[in-house]
Amino acid sequence: MTVHFIGAGPGAVDLITLRGRELIGACQVCLYAGSLVPKAMLGWCPPGARIIDTAPLDLDAIVAEIEAAHAAGKDIARLHSGDISIWSATGEQMRRLGQLGIPYEITPGVPAFAAAAAALKRELTLPGVAQSLVLTRTSGRASAMPDKEKLATFAASGATLAIHLSIHVIEQVVEELTPFYGADCPVAIVFRASWPEERILRGRLSDIADQVRAAELERTALILVGPALAAEDFSESALYSTGYDRRFRPRGGQA
Ligand SMILES: C[S@@+](CC[C@H](N)C(=O)[O-])C[C@H]1O[C@@H](n2cnc3c(N)ncnc32)[C@H](O)[C@@H]1O
Repeated sequence: MTVHFIGAGPGAVDLITLRGRELIGACQVCLYAGSLVPKAMLGWCPPGARIIDTAPLDLDAIVAEIEAAHAAGKDIARLHSGDISIWSATGEQMRRLGQLGIPYEITPGVPAFAAAAAALKRELTLPGVAQSLVLTRTSGRASAMPDKEKLATFAASGATLAIHLSIHVIEQVVEELTPFYGADCPVAIVFRASWPEERILRGRLSDIADQVRAAELERTALILVGPALAAEDFSESALYSTGYDRRFRPRGGQA
C-alpha cells in the first residue's frame, strides 16, 4: 500500500501527467484538495473508490483517512493542484507518514507559473534580460514570510518574479517593487491559467493595480513582473547559432 502524492496541474484536465492519471485510476482511495483540483479528474477513480474533498478537513483528519486506508491495504491517490513541490502543504503530510512508517511516492505536476507563461506565450528567461525566475509570495494568514524573504530582496536582482497568493494585495506588491523595477516595468496577471475562465491582464507597475480592481480578480491568479514579459530586443541564445559547437551539433551544425 502506498500514498501517491500527485500534482494535478494548473486546472485544465489534460494538463496532468500520464502517470498521475494512471495512478488515479489504480487507487481505491482518492483524497483531493477541492478548491483547485478539477472535479473531472475524479471520474478516473475506479468504481466504488472512496473519494474525499480534504478542503474542510484538518491535518489530523486527513492523516486518519490515510491510516484507515493503509490498514485496509488500499493505495491512495492524494491530489494537489499544480506541482507538489510548492505551496501544497504536503511537507507536513509526508513528515507524518514518515513518522507512521507509511510509504509514499510523488508524481510531479505542471505548476501554475508554467501554465501562466504558456497563456502569455512568453519565455520568462531571456538572454541578457533575465536569467532567473523567482517563485515567491507575500505573507498570508496561514504562512508568514521568513524575515529574509522580502519582495524587495528578490526585486533587487531584477529577475522575473512569479508572485503567488498575492493578488488581493496587488497595491502592496506594486509599492514594494516600483523602486526597483520602475513604474514602466511590464506586469502580467494570469487568472486561472488553463481553466475555461482564464483571464489575462497586461500592463505596467503604474497601472496594473487599477486593472486588477476593475476586473475584480481576488483569487487564483499569478502576478508576473519583470522586463522579460515584454522585451523584444533581447539577444538570441548562442545555443542554436550556426557558429556554436556543442555535443549534439558539432562544428556549428555543418556536416
Ligand atoms: C496554494 S498555491 C498552489 C501552487 C501550486 N502547487 C503550483 O504548483 O502552482 C495557490 C496559488 O497558486 C497560484 N495558482 C494556482 N493555480 C493557478 C492557475 N491555474 N492560474 C493562476 N494562478 C494559479 C495562485 O497564485 C494561487 O493563489
